[in-house]
Amino acid sequence: MLAFLSLLFFSAPTVWRPLTPLPFESFNTASQVPKDELDRVLQQASRGYNKTLIITVLNKAYTEKNGMLDLFLRSFRLGKGTKPLLDRLLLTADTDVMWLRNPFLKLNQSSEIDIQFTCDGFNGRPEDESNPLNTGFFFVRSNNKSIALFDKWYDARNNSGGMKEQDVLLQMIKNGTLRERGIRTRYLDTRYFGGFCHDYRDFSRVTTMHANCCRTVRAKLIDLSLVLEDWKTYRNGSVVPHNPHKTCLIDSWDELKGH
Ligand SMILES: *[C@@H]1O[C@H](CO)[C@@H](O)[C@H](O)[C@H]1NC(C)=O
Ligand SMILES: *[C@@H]1O[C@H](CO)[C@@H](O)[C@H](O)[C@H]1NC(C)=O
Ligand SMILES: *[C@@H]1O[C@H](CO)[C@@H](O)[C@H](O)[C@H]1NC(C)=O
Ligand SMILES: *[C@@H]1O[C@H](CO)[C@@H](O)[C@H](O)[C@H]1NC(C)=O
Ligand SMILES: *[C@@H]1O[C@H](CO)[C@@H](O)[C@H](O)[C@H]1NC(C)=O
Ligand SMILES: *[C@@H]1O[C@H](CO)[C@@H](O)[C@H](O)[C@H]1NC(C)=O
Repeated sequence: MLAFLSLLFFSAPTVWRPLTPLPFESFNTASQVPKDELDRVLQQASRGYNKTLIITVLNKAYTEKNGMLDLFLRSFRLGKGTKPLLDRLLLTADTDVMWLRNPFLKLNQSSEIDIQFTCDGFNGRPEDESNPLNTGFFFVRSNNKSIALFDKWYDARNNSGGMKEQDVLLQMIKNGTLRERGIRTRYLDTRYFGGFCHDYRDFSRVTTMHANCCRTVRAKLIDLSLVLEDWKTYRNGSVVPHNPHKTCLIDSWDELKGH
């Protein structure tokens, strides 16, 4: 059986938490969940759908009322063919990615490809390691190679003196760690897996939309809410006005000005 694993962010500390009500007794959402409990949740959530799991990591700041988590879940409900994926969603969500269509339909199905990354910009060459990857959304085929890589990545990050997990991974790609382990990567087209770095929003194609190139949670919330409003307009069959990611632009600009 194939096993897929999709990670949306990867950071500690982790709070394991099932998203949709799973048919077993009370689940402790505190940080100390026994390993066998987690194993049970994993099994439950990965049933069917080629054992696909959507894993996201909870960030406390995002879980406030009307916060990023609410917005994230709304995108699944308003998206096209994304609602059933909520059943796959195991852990919630330090996530600034809106799921507007089912991304699994736009991923390369080849079993030879181990990891597929979204990028801040796409140079048209899916195999080119110089595409600027973004770990906000990526897809991992679970196999011995990728499991070993995640162990390595975890160790490298733990010993990196506070480097961000994305930067540690970038370093591992640059210094050939993935290549020497035979890990095959692909970079995903921003036309489908879009983001604010690239103001490209073709709603007839957009699959996921990431609030990258945006510094503050506040700005992400405002601009992602606008994306969802535009999406609703699009789904209604109306012409979508061009709304730039104004708040993100201004916040980032303020940040730059301060330096
Ligand atoms: C499961 O994987 C097979 C082979 O890659 C694919 O044809 C099928 O569509 C997948 N099913 C789902 C539900 O993703
Ligand atoms: C998926 O990857 C395989 C292996 O590299 C490649 O041959 C194929 O063309 C890719 N398929 C798509 C739809 O990009
Ligand atoms: C993966 O690792 C397990 C445990 O070490 C081993 O039994 C299995 O044969 C390996 N699978 C492949 C495809 O190498
Ligand atoms: C992380 O690193 C610290 C110090 O380098 C070490 O003591 C600890 O065991 C490591 N944690 C894990 C889970 O590997
Ligand atoms: C590559 O970079 C990673 C992450 O910093 C590090 O752990 C690893 O030892 C490096 N490997 C080589 C061959 O330099
Ligand atoms: C979508 O259409 C419905 C019914 O015509 C309307 O009530 C609603 O306001 C529209 N929503 C948007 C976002 O345009």
